[in-house]
Amino acid sequence: MSKTAVLAKLQPLEQESISRGIPILGSKKGAWLLQKIQQVKPQQILELGTANGYSGCIIGSDGAELTTLEVNAIIAEEARQNFKRYGITAQVLTGDAVEMVKRLAAERQEHYDIIFIDFAKNKYITVLENCIRLVKKGGLIIADNITMDGCQDYQEAVLNHPQLKTELIPIRDGLSCSEKI
Ligand SMILES: C[S@@+](CC[C@H](N)C(=O)[O-])C[C@H]1O[C@@H](n2cnc3c(N)ncnc32)[C@H](O)[C@@H]1O
Repeated sequence: MSKTAVLAKLQPLEQESISRGIPILGSKKGAWLLQKIQQVKPQQILELGTANGYSGCIIGSDGAELTTLEVNAIIAEEARQNFKRYGITAQVLTGDAVEMVKRLAAERQEHYDIIFIDFAKNKYITVLENCIRLVKKGGLIIADNITMDGCQDYQEAVLNHPQLKTELIPIRDGLSCSEKI
């Protein structure tokens, strides 16, 4: 499906989320992310911070297997319903993403083509090393809201990390996109 068609299909969910004050990615950053997904064609994606599944519907729209982590059981259930509504194959795991990423990294290495980080801003730095372990060589770790308070240590770390090549994407409050080299 074309980028425009995917975003148009998700417009009701975007509007509904905005009117309810759910802090979703939105269609402007969504368009950038979708372009990346359609270019990279990932098979395995891990997302930290599901909310009601808006960004999951974007990153899962090209047929990848999506695993997404959410601490709030009520909104996680909404995400499951939205994945059904939009035909997205996703596994929503409920719990603290920091702990779950630690467990996943102990079980498997270099498994994901893309990891999308969009949860508690001051915890981005705590998951970085495990995300590097979990992402494939040549794979991407993408983080949202990178200029927000709480993300500075993460931003500095990804810009200076010897295993990462990072670019900052200046859309609204910014994204970072780090390739594992
Ligand atoms: C910005 S929202 C995610 C938006 C979503 N990615 C989207 O664009 O549609 C952040 C989500 O992270 C969740 N969250 C916060 N701390 C968390 C934690 N420690 N583990 C897992 N999820 C967490 C919140 O409950 C919230 O739903």
